[in-house]
Amino acid sequence: MNAAVLAANRSGLVPTFVKIATTADIPRGGARAFAVGDREIAVFHVGDRFYAIDNVCPHQGGPLADGWVDGTVVTCPWHAWCFDVTTGEMTLGFSTVDTFEVQVDGSAIAVSLEPRT
Ligand code: FES
Repeated sequence: MNAAVLAANRSGLVPTFVKIATTADIPRGGARAFAVGDREIAVFHVGDRFYAIDNVCPHQGGPLADGWVDGTVVTCPWHAWCFDVTTGEMTLGFSTVDTFEVQVDGSAIAVSLEPRT
């Protein structure tokens, strides 16, 4: 990567995407966690779309990809905090998880390395 691209990435203007899976890896209604850089990102397949959030629950670190999914809401498997995977907002409103842009190109799924701001 050249210095200009690296500088743009650091400024947040051009997100860096990394391919993590294929669409077949995450069945509709399901989720899977992937190590991306120094983070663990949970990717959810909701309807015809894919959404990515931090896999680590902000309460005590539960694995959100292992939670129960109802529509766009995932319930943490450890103590049932619920998050909207489209926004990262906790349904009770006092916490959030980071969200990440997802790109689907054919069957390839890529996520941004940087969370949305
Ligand atoms: S660790 Fe997720 S609700 Fe407690």
